[in-house]
Amino acid sequence: MKLKPAEIKVGRNDPCPCGSGRKYKKCCLDKEQTKPANLRDIYTSKYKIKFKESQDIDGIRTCGRLALATLDMVQENLQSGITTDAINTLVHDYTIKNGATPAPLHYRGFPKSVCVSVNEVICHGIPGERVLQEGDIVNVDVTPILKGYYADVNKTFIIGSPGEDAAKIVKVARKSLKAGMSMVQPGNTIGDIGWAIQRYAESKGCSVVREFVGHGVGFDFHEAPQVPHFGRKGEGIVLFPGMVFTIEPMINLGARHLKILEDKWTAVTKDGSLSAQFEQTILVTENGFESLTPYDL
Ligand code: MF3
Ligand code: CO
Ligand code: CO
Repeated sequence: MKLKPAEIKVGRNDPCPCGSGRKYKKCCLDKEQTKPANLRDIYTSKYKIKFKESQDIDGIRTCGRLALATLDMVQENLQSGITTDAINTLVHDYTIKNGATPAPLHYRGFPKSVCVSVNEVICHGIPGERVLQEGDIVNVDVTPILKGYYADVNKTFIIGSPGEDAAKIVKVARKSLKAGMSMVQPGNTIGDIGWAIQRYAESKGCSVVREFVGHGVGFDFHEAPQVPHFGRKGEGIVLFPGMVFTIEPMINLGARHLKILEDKWTAVTKDGSLSAQFEQTILVTENGFESLTPYDL
């Protein structure tokens, strides 16, 4: 995807592309440095956003296909009685067999190849001896590196038949991602995404985790910008074609607060309530978005 800066249109009443949260006309409209022709440079230098060209997008899409196939393979093997470490072995071996590298392994000291987060674990669960039980919900978050490109995707699965609470939180998390994705189009802002997610999740009596956010992705595991899953409409930077980032809302059945366990990774709900998450890697296109890790929501 080639960004065409000259064709970026920002209306006088649109949110200012500088991310101030004010209207363009009240902010940078008259300032030369945010004239549309210069926006790409600003986004690159000020916000460190790495725009993706069409060969990059092809690379991320191909990596995304492998990531999705990995989740399918995991799903086929999920059943009560298996340990989270068995899921790690499945993901690790499958990734290597397909010519890729698991990005989580040794990332900032993370000791395993996939994050596996059960029930009250919000994210960054370290695979280990925990045994999956009937009715558990389990998030599996995979990020292969294929030919230098990263794609980041996760789903929350249910083991056997779910209880009422499990069914609810998984559905609300799934629809939260869908609500966030529906806001992605050029001219909308990063804040619009979080606003839509928060509005939906809270309308269902659930809460949105704030300490972890979506992120730019593709050349690296975590790039600019950050993508909060809460916020106000019109806040944050404006979306442009060629941006690639994840949306990955973590939704709690109880309060939004979390604590981090002694292993320095595992994030759990402070009140012990269930938490679920869905994540896709999203490309902003001229007309809207394309998921580079598409699955039905
Ligand atoms: N995949 C997670 C994300 O969606 C990041 C995991 S970092 C790890 O951003 F080190 F725990 F793998
Ligand atoms: Co992510
Ligand atoms: Co992820």
